[in-house]
Amino acid sequence: MHDKYTDKALAEGMRARSAFKLIQVNEKYHIVKRGNDVLDLGCWPGGWMIASKRMGANKVVGIDLSKIEPVVGAEFIQGSVTEKKTLNKLKGAFDVILSDLAPKTSGIRNLDVARSLDLTNTALKIAIKHLKINGNFLVKVFQGEGYQEFFREVNKHFLFVKTVKPEASRQRSMEVYLLGIGFKG
Ligand SMILES: C[S@@+](CC[C@H](N)C(=O)[O-])C[C@H]1O[C@@H](n2cnc3c(N)ncnc32)[C@H](O)[C@@H]1O
Repeated sequence: MHDKYTDKALAEGMRARSAFKLIQVNEKYHIVKRGNDVLDLGCWPGGWMIASKRMGANKVVGIDLSKIEPVVGAEFIQGSVTEKKTLNKLKGAFDVILSDLAPKTSGIRNLDVARSLDLTNTALKIAIKHLKINGNFLVKVFQGEGYQEFFREVNKHFLFVKTVKPEASRQRSMEVYLLGIGFKG
């Protein structure tokens, strides 16, 4: 559905309206800072990668099932975040790990929530392995069964955890973002 963020994304070379979700979260919480190394899980078509670069990120690595058009100054790994052969290509530690991972929705709410929860749990495992101490984590979650438990799990690993719903995230969408600030290691 076309809206002001779709037009803005096109006008500003952001590839996807979703870029504004990260931009709005970052305006408030400053999770991506100049010189940071950023890992972006579920990065296609590259909106969050471009936004991260514009926020001054140093290294940006994106992973997705679908191939993206190259983003200047960023690396891309094609594959599933659930597969070892993809994760084996991931080297080093990051200041920020972002996950906008989303399953193909079926329209069956419980099924979509369960699939999304699998992806958010995978993102958390990757964050625990690849975040630098004091690093930040932003992950898309579908609200529904398992959400509170996931929140508590994230809460164990970060100094500060908050649920955020940026204005660019459609009100009728069941997605919210969980923000973990200050990875405890
Ligand atoms: C909402 S889109 C991301 C949009 C992106 N943040 C942007 O601004 O351009 C979600 C992405 O998650 C990806 N995805 C879903 N499951 C995945 C998996 N198992 N491994 C890697 N990527 C996956 C999809 O291919 C899709 O491109």
